[in-house]
Amino acid sequence: KKVVLAYSGGLDTSVILRWLQKTYNCEVVTFTADLGQGEELEPARKKAEMFGVKDIFVEDLRETFVKDYVFPMFRANTLYEGQYLLGTSIARPLIAQRQIEIAREVGADAVAHGATGKGNDQVRFELAYYALQPDITVIAPWREWDLTSRTRLLSFAEENQIPVTKDKRGEAPFSVDANLLHSSSEGKLLEDPAVAPEEIVFQRTIAPEDAPDKATEITIDFVSGDPVAINGVAMSPATLLTRLNELGKQNGIGRLDLVENRFVGMKSRGIYETPGGTILLTAHRSIESITLDREAMHLKDSLMPRYASILYNGLWFSPERRMLQALIDASQHSVNGRVRLKLYKGNVICTGRESPNSLYDTRVVTFEDDEGAYNQEDAQGFIKLNALRLRLGAQIGRNGGTL
Ligand code: ARG
Ligand code: SIN
Repeated sequence: KKVVLAYSGGLDTSVILRWLQKTYNCEVVTFTADLGQGEELEPARKKAEMFGVKDIFVEDLRETFVKDYVFPMFRANTLYEGQYLLGTSIARPLIAQRQIEIAREVGADAVAHGATGKGNDQVRFELAYYALQPDITVIAPWREWDLTSRTRLLSFAEENQIPVTKDKRGEAPFSVDANLLHSSSEGKLLEDPAVAPEEIVFQRTIAPEDAPDKATEITIDFVSGDPVAINGVAMSPATLLTRLNELGKQNGIGRLDLVENRFVGMKSRGIYETPGGTILLTAHRSIESITLDREAMHLKDSLMPRYASILYNGLWFSPERRMLQALIDASQHSVNGRVRLKLYKGNVICTGRESPNSLYDTRVVTFEDDEGAYNQEDAQGFIKLNALRLRLGAQIGRNGGTL
C-alpha cells in the first residue's frame, strides 16, 4: 500500500504524514506544490526526508496554476455570491490532478489531504480525485483520527519527534490558505462575523488608508480574454499576476470580509485578499465592454453565477464545467486590446479602453450630427411595438397593482 499526501510541510500535514505511516503502516509519498503561497519549499523536502519518505515531489506549478486555472476562470468574470474571487477553490483541482498523476507514476493506490471534515476543500479534493481516478482510495485523516484538540495534536507531534515551532505551540490565531491569486483567513479569532478583523490578519495588502495619495496609472493588454502585458511589457501569466499583486498591495486593493455559504451547508466568515485578481476583474470587464456583443455578454453574465457555484463546489472536472468553459472561451476571441486603469486607495478605476475589435461606434452614438449613421425615426416604431402589450394591459385596467 502506497499513499500520495498533499504535503505543505507545516505542522498539521506533518502530523498527518506520521499518522498515515503509523495507522496504515503504508509508504507515504509526499507532494508539495509552489502555487505562489510565498513559503519556502525546501524545508518541506527536508522534513519529508526526516520521516523516511523515499519519493518526494516538490514542484513549482505557478505558471500552470495561473495559465490553465486562474485565467480561464477570469474569462467568465467569476464571483461566488457576488463577491468571492474563488482563490482557494481554483487551486484545489490542480493539486488534486498532480496527486493523481503522481499516484500513477509511483504506483500508489491511495491519496490523502489535510482538509477538515467541515469544509469545502475536502469536497473539492475528493471530487477531483474520483473524477480523474474512479477507483482511488481517499484518506482524510481529519475525518478519521482522534487528534481533534490542539493538545492531542501537539502531544502526538511530541511523541513522534515532529518539530513544533514556538508560534505553533500556542493555538494559531486563524487558519490561512494562500496562493498567487489570494490569501484567505478564517476561523478562531475571526469566527464572530460582527467583530472587525484586526490589521494583523492582512498579509498581502496595506490598508487603503495607508495607500499613497497619488493614483498609480497602468495599462493592461488582453489577447483572447487573457492579460498578456502590463504597461506594454509582455509577461508570462504568473509573472503578470505577481506584478498585479504588488501594484494592488501598494494601493490597498482587494480586501474582502465575507460571510459565505459553504457547500456542506453552514455559513462561514472569511477575510480575503486578492489584490491582483481584483485589478484583473475590472480590467477584463472593461475590455469586454467594447469588444463583446450585448447579448453574448448578457448570456455569459447570466451563466456566471452557475459557473462560480460549480467551481466553489469543487466540480472543475465535470461535464457542466467543460460545457460552460467552451461557451465562455468561444466568447473571448474578440476580447483583445488595452485598458487603462487608475489604482487609488483600494479602488480600481478604468479610465480608457481601446481594441482592434471594438464594437463601439462614435458615429452612431454621438450627440453631434451623425451624418446618417443612425436614423432617429427608427426608434419610434421600436418603442411603439415594445409598448404594445403595456398599452393593451393598461386599457383593461392592468396598470398599478394588478398583474
Ligand atoms: N472559504 C474559502 C473557500 O471555501 C476559503 C477556504 C480556505 N481553506 C483553508 N484551508 N483555510 O474557498
Ligand atoms: C477546511 O475545512 O479544511 C478549511 C475550510 C474549507 O475547506 O472550507
